[in-house]
Amino acid sequence: MSGPEGERAEFLRDALAGLTAPEKSLPGKYLWDEAGSGLFDRICGHADYYPMREESALLPRAAAEVAARLGPGATVIEFGSGASRKIRTLLDALARPAAYVAIDISRDYLAAAVARLAPDYPDVEMLWSCADYTKPVRLPVTLEGRSVLGFYPGTSIGNFTPAEATAFLDRARATLGPSLFLVGVDATWDREALQGAYAGSDGLMAAFHLNLLARLRRELDTDIDPGNFRHEVRLCPDPERVEAHLVARAAATYRLGDRPLTFAAGESIRTDTSHKYTPDAFRRLAAAGGWEAAGFWQDPLGRYNLHLLRA
Ligand SMILES: C[S@@+](CC[C@H](N)C(=O)[O-])C[C@H]1O[C@@H](n2cnc3c(N)ncnc32)[C@H](O)[C@@H]1O
Repeated sequence: MSGPEGERAEFLRDALAGLTAPEKSLPGKYLWDEAGSGLFDRICGHADYYPMREESALLPRAAAEVAARLGPGATVIEFGSGASRKIRTLLDALARPAAYVAIDISRDYLAAAVARLAPDYPDVEMLWSCADYTKPVRLPVTLEGRSVLGFYPGTSIGNFTPAEATAFLDRARATLGPSLFLVGVDATWDREALQGAYAGSDGLMAAFHLNLLARLRRELDTDIDPGNFRHEVRLCPDPERVEAHLVARAAATYRLGDRPLTFAAGESIRTDTSHKYTPDAFRRLAAAGGWEAAGFWQDPLGRYNLHLLRA
């Protein structure tokens, strides 16, 4: 089964598996429907959300150097392109870029973002693919003979476990072929900054995570009540990561399809994880995925890193 019915069946399978496990969780990729993408865009504009600020400040420096290395006519493939804003810095720096391919799981948001971008870059071929990059991705373009740059900003690599991140990097190498890959990686372990970014933003982060339960109700046959849950952020060591949880305020039994979902008071659903990597830890991860270090940019406080990798 493929198309919307196949996607719904997969969502139901994943939700059932996650919500009936001894430690409940939902895959973070389901946070990204149109409502989730819109909420995240508002989070990015909030002063608390330092990854956006740090990465945007570093990008012009990295873009100039990447442009010099790639030369004219490059094709840029972005994984998890979201609002397709940061790509403007790269497209502006590159010499006569040939094409931009935006890959994202949030279909309507993706299509609208590329439609907004295209008129400003009439000489760049604009393509998009709604795909789940936790699986092999088929591109709408042949890369053979092209100069290729992969782009994976937003510290989304941290949403994978280290083993999953290595597998993603390995798949990306297979997709991109001989290429450079610019990846944004958060290294922050400053509790105040993390609490601000992951729990603050004036309640937008809570709304972003609670939207996942609202999405369950919109798309699947369930009576789960988002009002019975509150958002909580947990800073976990070894490996250093921030976990987002939705915690049940009161004990309750809900239904998903014909299966019961029972919650004790205080029991939680993990909805996302953000792993943090020192520069060396990330280089080791990249090497395990078949990439060597080719460039590095860091903010003055050493909190956020842009890594340029070579396949
Ligand atoms: C943290 S946002 C980053 C957005 C943008 N690249 C930026 O840096 O501002 C993550 C993006 O990745 C997309 N995404 C999340 N999981 C995905 C998956 N499994 N496959 C494809 N896209 C995914 C989301 O829809 C979202 O647009």
